[in-house]
Amino acid sequence: MLGNCPDIRYSVRVGIFLKLKGKTGLSTQKQVINNFKKVCICRSVTGGTIMKAIREGSLSFEALRRAIRVGTGNCKAKRCRPKIEAQLLAYKESLEQSGKKAPSSKANV
Ligand code: FES
Repeated sequence: MLGNCPDIRYSVRVGIFLKLKGKTGLSTQKQVINNFKKVCICRSVTGGTIMKAIREGSLSFEALRRAIRVGTGNCKAKRCRPKIEAQLLAYKESLEQSGKKAPSSKANV
């Protein structure tokens, strides 16, 4: 019943936005929206979940597949693999630009 109250829904959204902004350094609204978009439609995996797994050390598509089961749906990653690989590439480039090291990976392949 409380979930239908517009004030509470707004507060939850703002809370999630601030939480994400604090954790990821996200600055634009578009980046926040991308965190909630489903990238792997078959498995209902959002961009934020994928980004979290990448930051925790899954730095290849196969590592992500094992960690969060993206690309294991009916389409066999035909729809999501290009988007996920672009996300991986962007992350690696941002690491290079900032001079940071990649997190130690659990399952990089
Ligand atoms: S969209 Fe990811 S497996 Fe189909």
